[in-house]
Amino acid sequence: MIEVREMTLEDFEKVKLNLQDEFDEFWNASILKSELENENSHYIVAVNNNEIVGFAGILVTLDDTEITNIVTKKTMRKKGIGKLLLDKLIEITKKLGKEKISLEVNEKNIAAIQLYKSFQFEQVGLRKKYYNRENDAIIMTKKI
Ligand SMILES: CC(C)(COP(=O)(O)OP(=O)(O)OC[C@H]1O[C@@H](n2cnc3c(N)ncnc32)[C@H](O)[C@@H]1OP(=O)(O)O)[C@@H](O)C(=O)NCCC(=O)NCCS
Repeated sequence: MIEVREMTLEDFEKVKLNLQDEFDEFWNASILKSELENENSHYIVAVNNNEIVGFAGILVTLDDTEITNIVTKKTMRKKGIGKLLLDKLIEITKKLGKEKISLEVNEKNIAAIQLYKSFQFEQVGLRKKYYNRENDAIIMTKKI
């Protein structure tokens, strides 16, 4: 059974050790730590048999929440963990009384785009050549 709960500093200490090898090469431990300590952020982890298999976070702004990160451990992808994490971020957004949840995704990130589409996120904008001056960023939102 996979449990989704709030991320603690102890969880951070565990994931930071192999953040890039085990989770995602684009993330960096010091950025994650400052996100976690930001009082406007909410971070969650997915735990399977005491092992952290995914984590995700949102930043709360005036009228929405923005997904800053959602990642499943490389060896555990395509097992429904991304869906569990996204479901929880949407639940938190609802509880905060916000009207929408937003994100930015690289146009080449098919897995993430499919995940968001399966939750009825819609494209609302595009930032041209946003990633490495090469790939566009797709801006997506879901009304709550
Ligand atoms: C995006 C990511 C979080 C998905 O996590 P996951 O645990 O593998 O996702 P799930 O198993 O819950 O899959 C949910 C849905 O996403 C889509 N999906 C996931 N992986 C996919 C892939 N490789 N290709 C196409 N669609 C995919 C499917 O629609 C899937 O639903 P289905 O299984 O019913 O078809 C994961 O690929 C990841 O960690 N990527 C690296 C980090 C990243 O890019 N995060 C997004 C930043 S914007």
